[in-house]
Amino acid sequence: MLKEKQKILSKISYNQLSEKSFKKKIFCGEFFVIKKSNEILKIIEITEYYFQSFFNQSLKIRNHRRLISNKENDRFFKILQIRLKNCKIIRKNFSDFLSKIGLKTENTFMDMVSLRYSPRVGKKRIGSLVPTRAHRDTWASNIFSQINFWFPLHTVQNDNSIFLAPKYFKKKIRNNSKSWNFNSFKEIKNYPSVPVVTQKIKPKDLVSFKIQKGEILCFSGNHVHGSKIGRTERFNLETRITCKNDLKNFNIPENIDSYSNSIKNSWFKNLKTGKNY
Ligand SMILES: [Fe+2]
Repeated sequence: MLKEKQKILSKISYNQLSEKSFKKKIFCGEFFVIKKSNEILKIIEITEYYFQSFFNQSLKIRNHRRLISNKENDRFFKILQIRLKNCKIIRKNFSDFLSKIGLKTENTFMDMVSLRYSPRVGKKRIGSLVPTRAHRDTWASNIFSQINFWFPLHTVQNDNSIFLAPKYFKKKIRNNSKSWNFNSFKEIKNYPSVPVVTQKIKPKDLVSFKIQKGEILCFSGNHVHGSKIGRTERFNLETRITCKNDLKNFNIPENIDSYSNSIKNSWFKNLKTGKNY
């Protein structure tokens, strides 16, 4: 049986990067992990604190027995998500992390930091924090200079992290971006948060990763990617950025298969001024 590849990721220290080297790699389809930094560890610590205060149990336990889908937990997760998305200290730490890898925060526009949860195999999802099927973020945002950041709140293995399908970075793939609608996602329960791939991807064309607590995976929003559901549950945070100057300074990915036409500038706020992209 064909198995997906378990990719050995290149790991880079933040002080080995400059804005130019980082973005050149990302926009040509490279993906890599940036080693532990104090800022990412601080964000995890804050999230652990919120989690403990909401659920009265530590985020560090694996496979939380009491964390089942019920009305109360769904509501707690909803409030926790809002709290994390609006946490100024998390945003400030992420902004400081971006400065460390050489990005000019005055030119950078960032989405909110979102919590994701993947239950272990056979368990129900909780609330709206659902694992996502294969997709490109650019099908929803139509911002092709979008850069994604994904980091687990605990060490994850290949089977409960994230997968990428690098073969399709510059290759069309069938998807439902033509019929997907962001307003429907907001209004209809269980409507997918992004358009998704509608063809089969061969396991050999997928890669997945082991990522340590404190490390962060970086990749273009144009990469086809999705959630892994493994033997152990997983919590992670994710966000994305874009910069106006990137369009003229770098060769950003081209639109090859997005058929939605709405550009979601309003998701991204300037890190210094808070103004929309
Ligand atoms: Fe995504």
